[in-house]
Amino acid sequence: MADPTARAPQPGNESIQDLLRVAFAAAELAHSPYSKVKVGAALVALDGQVFAGCNIENASYGLTICAERVAMVKAISSGATRFASIAIASNLDAPTMPCGACRQFLSEFAPELFVVVQGKNGPRFQTWLSELLPHPFGPRDLP
Ligand code: THU
Repeated sequence: MADPTARAPQPGNESIQDLLRVAFAAAELAHSPYSKVKVGAALVALDGQVFAGCNIENASYGLTICAERVAMVKAISSGATRFASIAIASNLDAPTMPCGACRQFLSEFAPELFVVVQGKNGPRFQTWLSELLPHPFGPRDLP
C-alpha cells in the first residue's frame, strides 16, 4: 500500500487556477451573515474527485464550521480516503489562511496535503500542510 503520509505531486499552475475557480464559486455559497466573510474550499482526492465546501455560520457563533472542514467532511462521507491538495479562496483581499482547527482536522486525513490560498486581490500563498502544522497531534500520540 502507498504511504499515506507521502506528498502527491504538486499540481501545475493550470490545475491550481481551475481549483481556485471551484473554491471561489464555493465561497459564493457561504452562509456568513455575521462576519460577512465568504470562504470557499476545493479539496482534490487522489482519484481526481473534487469536493467543495463553504463556511457555514450560526447565530450561536461557536457552531460555525469553516469551509475547509465542510469540504473534508463531504469527501470522507462520500468515501474518499486519500487527498492531494486543497485550494482556499475568500472575498477578503489577503489570503485567508486555514485556522488552527482546520489544520488539525485536515491533518488527520492528509498530513502532506498541498495547500493553496488566494484572496480576492492579494498574492497567492502555497505550501504544504506539514509546514502549516508541524508536529501535529495524531494517532501516534494516543496510548
Ligand atoms: N473561516 C473559514 O471558513 N476557514 C478558515 O480557515 C478561517 C475562517 C470562516 C469562519 C467564519 O465564518 C469566517 O471565516 C470568519 O472567521
